[in-house]
Amino acid sequence: MSAEKNRSIIEQRTALRPKLAMVLGSGLGAFVETIEEAVTIPYDDLEGFPATGVSGHAGTLVIGNLSGVAVAVLSGRAHYYEHGNPAEMRPALETLQAVGVDRLILTNSAGSLDPDCPPGSVMLIGDHINFSGSNPLIGEPSDARFVGLTEAYDPEIRAALKAAAAKNEIDLSEGVYMWFSGPSFETPAEIRAARTLGADAVGMSTVPEVILARFLGLRVAALSVITNLAAGMTGAELSHQETKDMAPVGGARLARIIATFLEGQANDGR
Ligand code: HPA
Repeated sequence: MSAEKNRSIIEQRTALRPKLAMVLGSGLGAFVETIEEAVTIPYDDLEGFPATGVSGHAGTLVIGNLSGVAVAVLSGRAHYYEHGNPAEMRPALETLQAVGVDRLILTNSAGSLDPDCPPGSVMLIGDHINFSGSNPLIGEPSDARFVGLTEAYDPEIRAALKAAAAKNEIDLSEGVYMWFSGPSFETPAEIRAARTLGADAVGMSTVPEVILARFLGLRVAALSVITNLAAGMTGAELSHQETKDMAPVGGARLARIIATFLEGQANDGR
């Protein structure tokens, strides 16, 4: 099994045994530079890890200390729109679980449907809408595939992230993230439909990882860095360049929230 093989590769390269992991979204890779005693393992060295093909995504597993807490950071993810496989992150998440990770914080770049949550802000995902028509557990034979998602986003971690944001005087609104398959951006009509359906932000990732992580029994939280107002809201065309340019702005806020959140965890002795 690839997760066990990967576990021994990882355990040979670092003595750290992180219980908390993060996945970094588009343009958020600068975050890894703040990790101390970092050991970097290219995805190519690990079985089943994605070959990341999206510019702005690195493709490395970084294990080190952040605010005194051991963390495993996946810098770069596979997206459903790359090969049409919504379960492409499954081996990576199973590997994290095999090395002892029990909590996962996912990050992404997203378009906002709320003018009060403009580009550069950060949104805490409280719930999601799967609008892709796909699911990473299709084909999973065990009954565990019928995973409950009523509290997919862990209330305790969410509360701790909100407290960390407040401590930094950063607005952190909580909202609903709607997963579109991409890679084309949404149309203005799709955004109007998304608003009617209850979405606050839209994006092309994260939801399949949330479903897989809950399937594996990991506790999950997710944060969106808002890079743009959604299609049709400003008259301007959307672009991946804008996502990459704007992600570091909100990314700096995100990094402060995470650093303070982890300090709290370190003090809790976790
Ligand atoms: N739509 C979908 N994905 C995105 C967007 C968007 O507007 N912005 C960043 N990722």
